[in-house]
Amino acid sequence: MAARNAPTTVDVLTDEAHRYYRENGFVRIPQVLSTSETERFRAASEELMAQHGPEIWGAGEDEVQVHFVAQAWLKHEALRDLALHPVVTQIARRLAGAPLRVYSTDVLLKPGQKDLNTLPTLVHDDETGLPLDGIDRTLTAWVALVDVPVERGCLSYVPGSHLRDAAHRQTHMTSFAEHRPIEDIWPDYGWQPRITVPLKAGDVAFHHCRTVHMAGPNRTDSPRMGHGIVYMDAEATYRPGTEDAHISHMAPGDRLDNEKFPLV
Ligand code: SIN
Ligand code: NI
Repeated sequence: MAARNAPTTVDVLTDEAHRYYRENGFVRIPQVLSTSETERFRAASEELMAQHGPEIWGAGEDEVQVHFVAQAWLKHEALRDLALHPVVTQIARRLAGAPLRVYSTDVLLKPGQKDLNTLPTLVHDDETGLPLDGIDRTLTAWVALVDVPVERGCLSYVPGSHLRDAAHRQTHMTSFAEHRPIEDIWPDYGWQPRITVPLKAGDVAFHHCRTVHMAGPNRTDSPRMGHGIVYMDAEATYRPGTEDAHISHMAPGDRLDNEKFPLV
């Protein structure tokens, strides 16, 4: 990776990229982070993974899609800086066209195949798993902390899928047992084109919470280290659902407007 240390600004988000996001529900923005920032955030992610041990996205130890550490930004100062990164947050806000808050961030690791044979990441959209209401503009920033070519398990997206009607979405679930395969919810899914988006270290891909996406397995020997940051609508409210232990003390309908969900 060639070193690139000049500070970036929100101008990396061109009008063309903004239009692409509105139409397709995702966009890749190259070189948002400098080389030194990328290295700092990668080292922090490795530290956190070693300290906390991974949680497993998948059926169990043998069927891992992704190793993750949830709420990473509350567990490591460097990853707090990443969640609140001025350029990442400004791009997110411009794409959303409205104020946002940090909802959560996850370290997202697919170990290299010499350590583990990872599976593809399940086809899904993020809306289904968010215990939130009022998320029309909510989006995820997927930050590449190493080079993520196709072979290392980059994400693919179904362009325009964020605009499909509610009848073809699973808008919410209260437990993972309710999860339905995409083909059941959206019979046309199999006939949709998909766009695969390899990323270089320091690139960020943004996707809307209704955009259908997936990722390949990691078929290289090096780990795929990424970071997912969910920026939610500033007015979003709690709706009991999955992965909500950190907010389950709230009443349904409460706004998530305290210091754990800072405005960006
Ligand atoms: C992955 O990192 O493989 C999946 C991340 C996502 O679903 O946003
Ligand atoms: Ni997702």
